[in-house]
This record gives sequence, C-alpha cells and structure tokens, in this order.
Amino acid sequence: MIYLDNNATTQMDSTVVETMLPYLREKFGNPSSRHRQGRAARAAIDTAREQVASLVSAHPSQVIFTGSGTEANNLAIKGYVAGVMSGRLFIGSTEHPSVTSTADKQARFDGWSRFELPVTENGLLSDEAMEKLNMAKSGDLVSVMLANNETGVIQPISELYGQLGLKDKGVTIHTDAVQAAGKLPLNFSALGVHMLTLSAHKIHGPKGIGALIRDKSIAIEPQMDGGGHEAGLRSGTENVAAIVGFGAAAVLAHESLVRTSEKLLALRTKLENGLRMIPGIEIIADKTDRLVNTSCFTMASVEGETMLMMLDKAGIAIASGSACSSHDNTPSKILTAMGMDKSLARRALRVSLGKDNTENEIDTFLETLKMKLASFNSIASNVAI
Ligand SMILES: Cc1ncc(COP(=O)(O)O)c(C=O)c1O
Repeated sequence: MIYLDNNATTQMDSTVVETMLPYLREKFGNPSSRHRQGRAARAAIDTAREQVASLVSAHPSQVIFTGSGTEANNLAIKGYVAGVMSGRLFIGSTEHPSVTSTADKQARFDGWSRFELPVTENGLLSDEAMEKLNMAKSGDLVSVMLANNETGVIQPISELYGQLGLKDKGVTIHTDAVQAAGKLPLNFSALGVHMLTLSAHKIHGPKGIGALIRDKSIAIEPQMDGGGHEAGLRSGTENVAAIVGFGAAAVLAHESLVRTSEKLLALRTKLENGLRMIPGIEIIADKTDRLVNTSCFTMASVEGETMLMMLDKAGIAIASGSACSSHDNTPSKILTAMGMDKSLARRALRVSLGKDNTENEIDTFLETLKMKLASFNSIASNVAI
C-alpha cells in the first residue's frame, strides 16, 4: 500500500501511540477528580496543553481542546457571533466546509451577514477580496485558512491583513491552520490572528481531537455547556488519551519541522517533475507558494474519481478532492472557486505526501499513473471506434 493522502489524515506516529496507551489502560482517571489518579490525568493534560501551545508559540492558557478541527472552527465562528449583536462575516471562497457551512448558518441570524472573499486562479485572495476586506469594521469577523487542503496554496494572511490594518480597525481574525500545522512554522501572535484552529490527526496524532488557540481578549460563547471544562468554553470530560496523543504529535511536528519540510519538498519536486512529463497533466497553482507536501493536478481525459479507483486497485491511496467531499461526484468547490470549469475540476487528483513516503514510492506512483492513463485512453478510444 502506498499512502499518498496525508491531507485527509496521517498515520499515528508509533511514539504517539505509545504515549497514549497508558491513558487508555491504567491511567484512566477523570482529570476533574481530586484523587491521585485524577491528578495524574490533569497533569497529563497540562503537559499536552504546553506542547500544543509550543507548536504555535502561544501560551498554554490560550489552548482550548475540542473534539476536532471542525469543532474548533465551529467554536470560533459560532462562539464569536453569539456574543456580538451584529456584524459581517468575511469568509474565503476556498474554505473547508466546517467554516463555510458554519458561516452560512450564522449569517441567518438577525444583524449578521456573510461576504465571500473570491480568489484568483492561483488560489490567492483577489483584488476584489481585498476591496471587500477593506470595508471590514470593528466587530466584524474574518476567517481565511492559512493553507488549503486541496491545492496546498498558502495564503499570506498576515501581510494582507497588515496592509489593510484590519487588527487596528478592531476586526476579529480567525484562521484555520489545520493543514499548515507541521508543515509551516507557526507563531500565533506573529500571524496577527485572534483565533487559530488545529487538528491532531493531520500531524500524526489521533483523530477526534483538535484545538482552538485564542486571544483571550476576544469573547467567545461556549457551544457546549456543562461542567465548565476547558476554561468554560468546551464542557465535557476530557478525552485524556487523545489530548496526550495530540501533545506528543505536536512535539514531534515541532522538532522535525525543518527536516520533514526539506524531505517533503524534495519528494514533491521529484513527483512534479515526473508529472510534467506526462501529456495532458497540469499542476494547479504551481507558481504559487504551496505546502511542500501537496500537489493537485488535472488530467486531460479521465475523471479523478475513476483514476482514484484504478490507483486504489493498484494499492495506491490518493484523493480526487478533499476527503470530506469525495463521497459524491460534484466537482471540488475549491477548484471551481479558482475559476476552473466543472468538467476540468472533475479531472483533478490530489497527492498529499507524508514524512514516511519514499522516492521509490514516487517512482511507483508515476509509473502506475502512466500505465493507468494509457489503459484508460486505449479503452476510451476503442469505445469511440
Ligand atoms: C483545512 C481543514 N480544516 C478543517 C478540517 C477538519 O478537521 P477535523 O477532521 O479534525 O474535523 C480539515 C480536515 O480535513 C481540513 O482539511
């Protein structure tokens, strides 16, 4: 099996699994209990909070653990809107559904409206987006992701928002950094945002655990009420093992960032040099600053979904869009937002590399893709005759 779908999820690192195991076995205490076992669980959460904070150079008290990246995006947007009478939501047009659908719902509330920020064909915020953002006023909320899950395009948000003076105008800024974490150096305050979303399973940690990093001067309303866990912002007995795993994954991601990025860039360069030799393949946004692990491309003749299944049969795991939208055959909203026509967007595939991929795997992938394209084309031409 060659796994090239690391933006959908990553394999848990064995160190992460080992770190978690005691919390699934003998260290099962409830972190809210006062006895020794409870205190041990609480201490483990405190350590993980420091580790996750350190990945983004934030203070541990700024970390709110949530049940996923999706939940953290919901908490950021719903939690903020719930505390402000009226305002405008400015949302990137290539955001993850956990941002777009959350924003859609909030815009139905009295006093709130939603503005979509268009992107260029390279996936970057367009001039029109900048004009719209220039209208943002104190109390409004902007949410644009740091790096895109399908194309890997990196949005230079701190520079753009700096030029517009958004923070000085009192605009609240959220960013979904789920795909950026572990691939880009992240510094919460240098980014100039008030809220930032992370998810553990994209950085070799467990699924079902995320975090919202927040500037404590911004009020957010909890979306889950109860015993007041996570500074009152996310009630519910903590998933200690998952939190501990997230902490361990954050340490690994932090420590290996430079080494891993260099390796991934070398692998992607090899991959894209190979792809460019295959007739009909076009790499999307290849002139734009992208995550070093991500390569999204279109093919001339075959639909992404068809090729995905052909490659799966050959033991290669790849995506034809984001994992969340792969269950239906509607073309990727991200690619169509970049101005791609629907039929071409249906012919897109995404390779997302991980730290454990090898050069041999890239060679095998390229060879297999060429073979499958050739066999598809010959079947298609026979059918045409
Ligand atoms: C950019 C982005 N944001 C948010 C999420 C959601 O994270 P989670 O799977 O932890 O809910 C994903 C997952 O695919 C993602 O790629």
